[in-house]
Amino acid sequence: MAHILVVTNRKGGSGKTATAVNLAAEFAERGSRVLLIDLDTQNHCALGLGIKLSKTDATVHGFFAGQHNLTTAIKHSRWSNLDLIPADPLFEHGAAGNDEFRLRSALLDEALGARYDILILDTPPSLDILLLNALYAADRVLVPFLPHFLAGEGVKQLARVLFKVGSHRANEGVRVLIAYVPVMLAARIGQHKKVANAISSQFGATRMLPGIRNDIRVAESFSVGQPVRYYAPKTRATEDYQHLTDAVLRLLENPDR
Ligand SMILES: Nc1ncnc2c1ncn2[C@@H]1O[C@H](COP(=O)(O)OP(=O)(O)OP(=O)(O)O)[C@@H](O)[C@H]1O
Ligand SMILES: [Mg+2]
Repeated sequence: MAHILVVTNRKGGSGKTATAVNLAAEFAERGSRVLLIDLDTQNHCALGLGIKLSKTDATVHGFFAGQHNLTTAIKHSRWSNLDLIPADPLFEHGAAGNDEFRLRSALLDEALGARYDILILDTPPSLDILLLNALYAADRVLVPFLPHFLAGEGVKQLARVLFKVGSHRANEGVRVLIAYVPVMLAARIGQHKKVANAISSQFGATRMLPGIRNDIRVAESFSVGQPVRYYAPKTRATEDYQHLTDAVLRLLENPDR
């Protein structure tokens, strides 16, 4: 069965999509069969993988609106093993209904966990029914954050939601592992270290994964529709995403961490 990794943070612009797209690319390059699901109507994952969509293409939001199943919405990227279920920029959030378990049921019913090795879910910067659907489907949660004071506060708020979901899942016998990854790091800035250390001491040092340095190549790579490892193989963010992938692999493989 595939692991289901949700990338989330309620705060906008905290590197969720960059993390989701670049981890997906790195896992696929290493031979895992990867399905990226974009729950954010900004639709940036398609951009990051250079996938062009027409208005009539099926999307994850079309699934939530009851128009079709999930499998219908799968798009292949130009990289082998790397597929995407894109978002619908025109989706109205009220149309998602109020069932928190719909995504989880569909992933099971459509056996997507058997077809892929890892499902990576990118989420919108809001606490809505789509985010809850993602969290109730997940067995791993990754929280990218900018190590600034307010971002640290946002992570603490998110932790309360994760605690609720985690307790529910524990009752079903599933242990949800949560890890944090500092992004857009400038190692020289003391404030970054302070916030990262505070989060580390609150949630445990083993939950703090290696960070991603600030690197303009990440932003540029979206404009050319390629994960950064292909756009700029030698840049520091490519190196950092590789270390992060190693750490996420350990998180996936070791249930006792
Ligand atoms: N390591 C990095 N160095 C420099 N820029 C980065 C880095 N990671 C992400 N970015 C850029 O920062 C911006 C925000 O990142 P991203 O879109 O991944 O955040 P997000 O949390 O998904 O945002 P939203 O909440 O709007 O969905 C983007 O322009 C992205 O290209
Ligand atoms: Mg995003």
